[in-house]
Amino acid sequence: MIGRLNHVAIAVKDLAASTALYRDTLGATVSAPLPQPAHGVTVVFVELPNTKVELLEPMGEASPIAKFLERNPDGGIHHICYEVEDILAARDKLKEQGARVLGDGEPKIGAHGKPVLFLHPKDFNGTLVELEQV
Ligand code: CO
Repeated sequence: MIGRLNHVAIAVKDLAASTALYRDTLGATVSAPLPQPAHGVTVVFVELPNTKVELLEPMGEASPIAKFLERNPDGGIHHICYEVEDILAARDKLKEQGARVLGDGEPKIGAHGKPVLFLHPKDFNGTLVELEQV
C-alpha cells in the first residue's frame, strides 16, 4: 500500500535558526518559508536527493504542533509521510484493520496541494503517520 517516503517533518521553535542549520551547517537546499495558515504552521522544505525534510514552526497559539514543542522544547521529529496511490482506498483498508484515522477521516489538502490523512501514533509504533496521495 505505502510507497515512497515523501518527507520527514521536524517541529522547530525557531524556523530561521533551523533553516540556517540545514542550509549553512548541513549544506542542504532549503526553500523560503511558506506560511500554511490552514494547518497552523510555517513550513520550510529541505530538498534532499531522495526525499524531503520539512521544518515546521508553529503559527498561532492553536497550532497543532504547539503542544508537541512544549513536550519537546528542543524540537523533534513530528511525523513521517508515506506516499499512497489512492488515499481513500488506503484509508478504508486501514480502518478495516483497526487503525485510527485522525480528525473526521476525510482527506485534507496538505502542504504540497495534495490530499493527506494522518494516522494515530498509538497504532504505528508511537509515530504520527501522514499519508499523501501522489
Ligand atoms: Co507532512
